[in-house]
Amino acid sequence: MDTTPSPTPTARRASLTVDQDDPIWALPATFRWGVATSAYQIEGATSEDGRTPSIWDTFCRVPGAVRDADHGDVACDHYHRMPEDVALIADLGLDTYRFSVAWPRVQPGGRGPVNHAGLAFYDRLVDELLSRGVEPWITLYHWDLPQELEDAGGWPGRDTAYRFADYAMLVHDALGDRVPTWTTLNEPLCAAMLGYHVGVHAPGRRDLGDAVAAVHHLLLGHGLATERLRAASAPGTQLGITLNLGPGQPATDSAVDRNAARLADGLGNRLYLDPVLRGSYPDDVVADLARVGVQIPVRPGDLETISAPIDVLGVNYYFAHRISGTDEQGRTAEADGLPVRRSLPTGRPTTAMGWEIQPEGLTELLVRLGHDYPGIPMVITENGAAFDDEPDADGFVADDDRVAFVAEHLRAVARARQRGADVRGYLAWSLLDNFEWAEGYAKRFGLVRVDYETQRRVPKRSALFYRDVAQRVRQAG
Ligand code: FCB
Repeated sequence: MDTTPSPTPTARRASLTVDQDDPIWALPATFRWGVATSAYQIEGATSEDGRTPSIWDTFCRVPGAVRDADHGDVACDHYHRMPEDVALIADLGLDTYRFSVAWPRVQPGGRGPVNHAGLAFYDRLVDELLSRGVEPWITLYHWDLPQELEDAGGWPGRDTAYRFADYAMLVHDALGDRVPTWTTLNEPLCAAMLGYHVGVHAPGRRDLGDAVAAVHHLLLGHGLATERLRAASAPGTQLGITLNLGPGQPATDSAVDRNAARLADGLGNRLYLDPVLRGSYPDDVVADLARVGVQIPVRPGDLETISAPIDVLGVNYYFAHRISGTDEQGRTAEADGLPVRRSLPTGRPTTAMGWEIQPEGLTELLVRLGHDYPGIPMVITENGAAFDDEPDADGFVADDDRVAFVAEHLRAVARARQRGADVRGYLAWSLLDNFEWAEGYAKRFGLVRVDYETQRRVPKRSALFYRDVAQRVRQAG
């Protein structure tokens, strides 16, 4: 594709050419184009205007928990630079910005009245976006649970679901008149499993039973919030949840590998999709968990609540799996008794995260979702890649690897649409380089480079490429 030089001083021509007959050009003019971020990863200002600590503030202080002992105290200083960041989005010509609200900023401690000073930040952000023609898309929970709620039991405790629904309404009361799309939770799998089972994310607990209880209470919180948001929302408001999903083929046709792939799909995908979209937990996963003494703490009525109708399924996709049912020593069961589920490399190139680049997995996933869970529109709420960016003397990054990644994944979305998947938009992860959780600031996912010394932002080549593709698709309609 030929791109016109941008008037901004940092602009460079996008390098990738996209053929006239590329599937990307089949995306409709109405396709949604945006970027995503989350509060703890960019805001900083963790103790300003009444914000109290979240589990991530606490976790970052645990020695060895986060690479280089990094933390979100300053991050991208977005709390103080918000108008500049909104201008970046608008200047890229994008129509949607998905951001998350920090619960401990809006409701310090996770209970009680709203903190007006904290809420005012999101009020300004929403107005700034609207004034620049960018649609706000709120995620209510992107992992920053108020520490006091963790101290009271965290997500393994049922009460947290009710606290979440109350908090959702505080935000909605203030912003519901201007925000058309609401995501309750971002990636409950990561919040529950990485946080409460594997222990590599906050709050760093390691207990499968706690993690499974956390799954249920996160989903219950989603359902309770969805019911209340629905009742309070204007007609046409879009409500949804964002799940991170990945297809997983068995490494071989052996019964062991096929069983491991089934369980990986159960624990990774169906454990979330089925209750939300079908009102039931998958029988095979329930049975597997019961065999190792873990029960999902379901009470009568919970599944009706969890399956409250939604309008959009947010899909976060990063990679696919090739699942083996044996570990390096040839063992077939984990210490907890569940079958081994090991993701084997396929030899494809990887990103700086070590994640294999598998765009065809996205097509496969979206086609399958459309088939197995029909009738629910989808939006890619996150997709992107970390690479070891090399800025030039001006801070510009000619990130052709990221350009290719974005192009391949847009193509994968277009192919899924051609095969019937109802995918309505793509939100790139991420607007800015940011705090990548346990990886700290070492991994850069931004379309826009952040120099953490100066907080200077410089759009990378991928940002310009993304801008130009979105513009051309829109104009073709
Ligand atoms: C997702 C998270 C997001 C970001 C990307 C790389 O799992 O939702 O915050 O860290 O991974």
